[in-house]
Amino acid sequence: KTYSEPFRPQFHFSPEKKWMNDPNGLLYYKGIYHLFYQYYPEDIVWGPMHWGHATSTDLIHWKHHKIALFPDKLGYIFSGSAVVDVNNTSGLGTLKNPALVAVYTYHNMDIEKAGGINAQSQGLAYSLDEGENWSKYQGNPIIENSDLKDFRDPNVFWNKETNTWNLILVSGDHAQFYTSKNLINWTLESEFGKGIGAHGGVWECPNLFKIKVENSIDEKWILLISVNPGAPNGGSGTQYFVGDFDGKNFKTDQKDTKWLDNGADNYAGVTYNDAPDNKRIFIGWMSNWLYARNTPTKNWRSAMTLPREISLSKINNNYVLKNAPVAQLKSQLEKGFSKNLLVLKPKQKTTFNYNNLNQSQIGFSADAKTLKLVFSNDVKDSLVLNYDGKQKTFSIDRRHSGNVNFEPNFGKSIHTTATPNIISETIDYQIILDWSSIEIFLNGGVYSFTEQIFPKKPFTKLTIQSDENQEIKNISIHKIKGIW
Ligand code: FRU
Repeated sequence: KTYSEPFRPQFHFSPEKKWMNDPNGLLYYKGIYHLFYQYYPEDIVWGPMHWGHATSTDLIHWKHHKIALFPDKLGYIFSGSAVVDVNNTSGLGTLKNPALVAVYTYHNMDIEKAGGINAQSQGLAYSLDEGENWSKYQGNPIIENSDLKDFRDPNVFWNKETNTWNLILVSGDHAQFYTSKNLINWTLESEFGKGIGAHGGVWECPNLFKIKVENSIDEKWILLISVNPGAPNGGSGTQYFVGDFDGKNFKTDQKDTKWLDNGADNYAGVTYNDAPDNKRIFIGWMSNWLYARNTPTKNWRSAMTLPREISLSKINNNYVLKNAPVAQLKSQLEKGFSKNLLVLKPKQKTTFNYNNLNQSQIGFSADAKTLKLVFSNDVKDSLVLNYDGKQKTFSIDRRHSGNVNFEPNFGKSIHTTATPNIISETIDYQIILDWSSIEIFLNGGVYSFTEQIFPKKPFTKLTIQSDENQEIKNISIHKIKGIW
């Protein structure tokens, strides 16, 4: 049965069947969150790309819709974004019934096969029935490409400050910034990125947005850039830049490379246009190009991260982008187990038995000292999390977490992250496991870690230990209800 296959996520979005990668066209309109995604309906590996489509009213429960965009003679349909053309600037809808407009990349296989490098261009499609049916714009492509190999993933939004449309796309080692009055004719204004940030591979899936700085009247612009390969744990990952944007140029004085998530499996993530209450809601693809095609699932492949709310904090006089699960997740928690206080003595182990930790949320707050958590089962799979209070690092060891041999990189090493932005005396832990993933949030998302895991049986034991005296407060374990 669908959604009960081995490793099938129970409360994360995954397609009913076949291959999925990046989230696309994240748009909120008339009470509905749209999620489009890179989709190949014929196989569980990447192929000619379509846009699949799902919707949600609460970001937790998803309804599948028919495929929104099919490849056409201009090419496969790669990643992109969507907006509501409220003022009918494009003339494709009416003021009464504005068009939903999707801007995406065409990848032309004929050009690629003939040895041409300019296989990618930008196309436009629109829907006049709230996203159900889509028509391609007759004049496609709307942004042509003369000589760039990588030229893709347009991110469009309405800039309230300049009353124009902005579009950001990536071209190999940099991003390009465009403006338009009508979503169709675009002017290249500037470029950003050469020699700054991580460049282990090509830049992909940009997303630019403005956000308030917590506890301040300041606002900053955030530029998300995915890069593959070149992420800290190998393969693909998403970095961000904090800066200013005047409608044409993005500037930053940032020197360091910042990562949105420090786990191995959060890629190509972008945020919703027009989400209510000025919220910035993020969804990432919960995989990594290093082994995305090899994960041990049947019928379908891969899932999205939980939708997360993004916020910006200043810590150690440095901007830190936080991300944590949307509050709506709380409605999925069943009445759980809780314990007010656990006092750990050095080397003493405390074990909690629980029937299925792979569909649960674990929360507690602990002294910012060394703490080791081991998830295990009776077939000797184990997943080890370790906060090292002296070195100030957090690590995830999934080397023995179950099925890890499907691809050599998956279980190769322990993933360790320096955590200088943990400056509190206690750390809040929020840990969420589904049948094939773990998401860890420290201090409300100051650090997040997202990883896939494929235990042969669900984890049923959680062992906690420290090498120091340690107090752990408000431990809770909640089952998370399935959504399918
Ligand atoms: C990122 C990406 C995008 C591209 C899409 C193709 O994962 O490589 O750059 O548009 O996937 O499916």
